[in-house]
Order: sequence, then structure tokens, then C-alpha cells
Amino acid sequence: MVPVPDHTPRELLDFYLEAGADALVGEEAVDRFAPVEAAVPPPRPARQVPDTATQSRAAPAIAPQAPDEAAMAARAAARSAQSLEELRAILEKFDGCALKATASRLVFADGNPQSKIMFVGEAPGRDEDIEGLPFVGRSGKLLDRMLAAIGLDRKAAYIANIVPWRPPGNRTPTPQESAICLPFILRQIELVDPDLLVCLGGPSAQTLLGIKEGITKSRGRWFDFNNGKRDIKAIATFHPAFLLRSPLQKRFAWRDMLAIKKALTG
Ligand code: URA
Repeated sequence: MVPVPDHTPRELLDFYLEAGADALVGEEAVDRFAPVEAAVPPPRPARQVPDTATQSRAAPAIAPQAPDEAAMAARAAARSAQSLEELRAILEKFDGCALKATASRLVFADGNPQSKIMFVGEAPGRDEDIEGLPFVGRSGKLLDRMLAAIGLDRKAAYIANIVPWRPPGNRTPTPQESAICLPFILRQIELVDPDLLVCLGGPSAQTLLGIKEGITKSRGRWFDFNNGKRDIKAIATFHPAFLLRSPLQKRFAWRDMLAIKKALTG
């Protein structure tokens, strides 16, 4: 029989990192092998009911438990934002999405809010969580090259995500998490009011454009998108992270970028 080698704690940590488990989710270690009786959770503290009379309109501090309640609170909170600064401040205080508890910080947006074009990805990854800006890791570097290929950069484009907090281990946000965050990105699009919206990847396209089919079918097609103020044009293309894994698909993304350039320059 082949002996199983002893793994050092360093090797075990490297294994966890490789598997995407690179964030602590609690202050105290949990003994997962403890007998079940010992693992009974303490009673939940009474819920805080927000005092709507004294709450500032721009910064509702809410801590809902149920996803429906959280989504309703998100809609009310997002609607109350009159500017991007207010929206960011509201999100900083919003406690309705559990991802906030495990992320290090809010990843709101990058780029030029006056831009005519807005790109929306799925959710921040590890690098974005560290820096507090969207698309700064490997896929962000590719996005920068895609922008440069059509004469754009971060001073000429506005970039955000459907979900503004990093899901642990870079997992895909759950439909509930996306639904809770959706009012905020919709309001962000309304406040930026770009002429063109570009969905990066299938989840962004499905969430914003309401399409059921996958990105391979939906990319490169123009959609009408009502941004709350007016109808604008929207298109979906491959997510840069997917292009890093499947470089042969870059030729399709290139076509999409050319179509975007044409639409931008008229
Ligand atoms: N992937 C995304 O969808 N968004 C980011 O900000 C980074 C990676």
C-alpha cells in the first residue's frame, strides 16, 4: 500500500487556497467534529426594527432576515438614492445581503460616471475584494485590453457588477443574492444613464436583460434596455474570465467589441 504522506499545515493552507477557500468567515474556529448536541446555536438576538422617523433618507440601516424582506428593502433603499454617492453610501450601510459579512469591502464601481458606455460583470473576485474596485485582477487586465482595442480605457467607460460584494471562494452568487442586489445595479445604471450597456458574461446578461439562453447564443445581439429614464441599447459578450480559459472564443468577443465601437461612434 502507498503510504499517505503527512501534510504540513502550510500544504493544507495551499490546498484550501487552490480550492478557492481563501477567506475567513468567522472570528472563532468551529469544531465541526463536535457532537451535535454541543453545536446547538445560541438563541438569535431580537431583531432590530429600523426607526423610520429618525432614519436619513440617503442611508437606511436595515437588517432584514428573510430574502423577500431584504429584496423589498433593497428596492426602497436603491430608489431613495439621488446620486451615485448616495447610492454608494446606502450600499455601505445595507445589511440585507449576507455576502457583505464575508467580503472585506464594498466593490462599487470604477471609471467615469459621465461615460456613454457601462460594463456590468457578475461579482468581485479576490483581487477586487482587496482593492475595492471591479475588474482589477487577471480578467480585469484582459478587460482593459479589450477596451483599449476599441480606443477606450477606464476614463472613458464605467464598470460595475451585479453583486457588489465578493462571494466566498469566488463562488457564483446565488439567485437570491443577485435578486437582493439587483435594485442597486439597476439604480446605478439609471443614475449613470449610459447610451450603451454591455453585460459581461451569461449571469450578467440573464439578470439584466432577462434572457434565458446561455451567453454563446445571446452574445453579439442588440437588446432594448429601459434604464428607468429611457430606452438604451444593450449587448452581451463573453466574460473576460471565460476568455482567459477559452482563448479561441476571443474572436467572437472581438466581433462584439467592434459592434460596440460602431454603436458608440455612430
Ligand atoms: N469578475 C467579475 O464579474 N467582476 C469583477 O469585478 C471581477 C471579476
